[in-house]
Amino acid sequence: MKAIILAAGVGKRMKSDLPKTLHTTAGKPMLHYVIDACQQAGIHDITVVIGKGGELVQAAISQPVRFVWQDQQLGTGHAALCAKQHISPDDRVVILYGDTPLITPEFLKNLSAFQQEKSAHGVVVAVQVPDPTGYGRVMTKDGKFEAIIEQRDLTADQHTIDLINTGLYMSTGQALLQGLERLNNNNNSQEYYLTDVPKIVSDAGLHVVVYCAADHLQFMGVNSQKQLAEAAVVLRSRIIDRHFENGVTIIDPSAVYIDASVEIEQGAVLLPGVMLHGHSRIGEGAVIGPHTQITDSVIGPRTVVRNSVIEEAEIGADCKIGPFAYLRNEAKVGDRCRIGDFVEIKKSTLGNDTKAAHLAYIGDATIGERVNFGCGAITVNYDSKYKHQTVVEDEAFIGSNVNLIAPVTVHSGAYVAAGSTITEEVPEDALAIARERQTNKEGRAKKYKK
Ligand code: UD1
Ligand code: CA
Repeated sequence: MKAIILAAGVGKRMKSDLPKTLHTTAGKPMLHYVIDACQQAGIHDITVVIGKGGELVQAAISQPVRFVWQDQQLGTGHAALCAKQHISPDDRVVILYGDTPLITPEFLKNLSAFQQEKSAHGVVVAVQVPDPTGYGRVMTKDGKFEAIIEQRDLTADQHTIDLINTGLYMSTGQALLQGLERLNNNNNSQEYYLTDVPKIVSDAGLHVVVYCAADHLQFMGVNSQKQLAEAAVVLRSRIIDRHFENGVTIIDPSAVYIDASVEIEQGAVLLPGVMLHGHSRIGEGAVIGPHTQITDSVIGPRTVVRNSVIEEAEIGADCKIGPFAYLRNEAKVGDRCRIGDFVEIKKSTLGNDTKAAHLAYIGDATIGERVNFGCGAITVNYDSKYKHQTVVEDEAFIGSNVNLIAPVTVHSGAYVAAGSTITEEVPEDALAIARERQTNKEGRAKKYKK
């Protein structure tokens, strides 16, 4: 069995330069979902027809598919014809549109079984929808296929027909090739409609049947930004259902956004306002949110992350993060750490049991275990040209409002007094003080009060 996926259309109605099927919904491009569905249905010979912006499609799609080009977008029939050299008469071919991201592998398997059961040369998948506007309508007589009529070619009395063409077809290679060769563009759009193929082959005496599907949601075609968002609602609820089944607690499913690629372990709790993106992994029993965004990051078991932004970071077990922490770009935090409000960490490693409880910046640093990084303390890592490294060894104590001017090392067990600007190495167990001594001018304050 082979699949042909049409993805060469310009997608005018999206009002965007990005090829339509590359628009992402719930974290993946639409086309990606369609290819996934084919692969999961056991179809591995997949041809994707690409056109304007096709290089972008090739670059974005990592799945093993074959690309063919449609240089001019002359219609869906013409697009399918561009894949002709990869169709042979004794193939079974499923044709899909790249803008139907909700299609499921189960349905593709059913469709294949249906075709064999009916010994059909061609199957048109139709479904009844509440609002058929924009779709091609499937005409039947006594349940038998007659024709597909595009929205633009409907007569006034045909507009209310609510049996629509889903854009999913199953055909023998022979019927498909025969139909495609006889296509013309005598219609209101002057396009070569793939939707004319079933009638052409049926008129030629081949057996074409209509498969009336039940659940119309999975056939939704995305032509506009609004429909893209509507598809995302369905995809997200499917993703959330999967996590519910795995024992994840989600307080308000309408208020969390989880990409398809995210993994969440049992017993994790997601509070409202959580967005989990990319290849993120949330550990067992972790509590995330409210209002937290996590991208391409790993959160350890039982760690609590509140009101924070975490990107490309790794956080160990039993940590307390936030509220209002920002961890990014290779931030690695050990177990049982506490990263509090307004702490930013980038390209740094923190050992187990280390704390930066409030208002700190840790960049390009290696911080040991059981370190206390005081309120307002920062690594001064950037000299306007280069970034430099800071090392703070185990059990060091960095007082409040300390500047650690990198490159610099504070050795294990050392203390740095509050308000110090440290430019030189601090030896093991030393106390470093680097600030002006205080002078008190007796009675001077009274002068300012007058
Ligand atoms: C199409 C069907 C319509 C059906 C609907 C289902 C036709 C003529 N109409 O309409 O009957 O109800 O889908 O969603 O097929 N494409 C190309 N090359 C082209 C034109 C389109 O590759 O020259 C691709 C597009 O990228 C898209 C798919 O074919 O993925 C469908 O094209 P689109 O313009 O969205 O068709 P609809 O108007 O939605
Ligand atoms: Ca469409």
